[in-house]
Amino acid sequence: MLQGYRTHSHVALPQNTPDRMTLSILTWLMLLHCCCFSSTFGSSSEQYANQSICHKRRFQELSCSSLNLSSVPNYLESGLKKLDLSNNFIQTLNKESTASLGSLQELDLSFNRLDLLTRSAWRNLVQLQSLNLTGNNLDRNRKRNSAALQSLKSLKVLELSQNNLNSDTAALYLKNMSSLEHLGLARNKLTTLSSELFHQSPTWRASALKTTSLWKSTREPLRV
Ligand SMILES: *[C@@H]1O[C@H](CO)[C@@H](O)[C@H](O)[C@H]1NC(C)=O
Ligand SMILES: *[C@@H]1O[C@H](CO)[C@@H](O)[C@H](O)[C@H]1NC(C)=O
Ligand SMILES: *[C@@H]1O[C@H](CO)[C@@H](O)[C@H](O)[C@H]1NC(C)=O
Ligand SMILES: *[C@@H]1O[C@H](CO)[C@@H](O)[C@H](O)[C@H]1NC(C)=O
Repeated sequence: MLQGYRTHSHVALPQNTPDRMTLSILTWLMLLHCCCFSSTFGSSSEQYANQSICHKRRFQELSCSSLNLSSVPNYLESGLKKLDLSNNFIQTLNKESTASLGSLQELDLSFNRLDLLTRSAWRNLVQLQSLNLTGNNLDRNRKRNSAALQSLKSLKVLELSQNNLNSDTAALYLKNMSSLEHLGLARNKLTTLSSELFHQSPTWRASALKTTSLWKSTREPLRV
């Protein structure tokens, strides 16, 4: 329902195609319609959300979980170490929304609608050590997502469970992730895990293979 307005870009034109003039007017009308529709779209609380709707847990820890957010709140304070954005409807993060998050160490984005990780946004997270992406749609936009993940140089904990990932996509995402100590891949569509994947770092190989969530996904390849 939240993404319903997107379908408007696929409106079919009548079969008896009108002349160019009418066509361009039609196009403008459609554009206008889309703009108006999306700007009034959503409840006001999510459209203009800023940090005031979140809960301060501790010093440098903020929870914005389960607030029906469709984007990261504006004006997040700088210096945050932990940010919980789980259980919302966030589809992507832009670079403005992460600009103040250079100190962030833990980010929970589990159960959102993420399908696109853009490098420009993610490379702001220079100190990120733990990233929870459980329950998103990261089977899409593989190349761009991979590039974004590669930019997280300090990452130790990565949860990619329940993203409908196949073996190839998982391999792509985990390429060069030699700093990882914990990896969650449960409930994806993995059938094989390439030994190449574990070739790069012996310490990671050892610790990753111990994680129960990884084993679960290989034993139960068809459970999504
Ligand atoms: C944050 O939102 C509240 C209401 O939702 C508003 O009163 C306040 O001015 C906003 N703060 C900033 C910095 O925009
Ligand atoms: C989120 O949306 C659901 C369904 O519309 C509603 O019941 C719930 O109260 C909303 N939660 C918040 C925090 O706005
Ligand atoms: C990631 O999020 C899921 C769902 O919210 C939770 O069950 C899991 O423990 C989290 N993993 C980590 C490493 O925090
Ligand atoms: C990944 O690692 C390979 C060799 O292990 C290296 O050639 C390549 O440049 C690395 N890519 C990135 C994006 O770091």
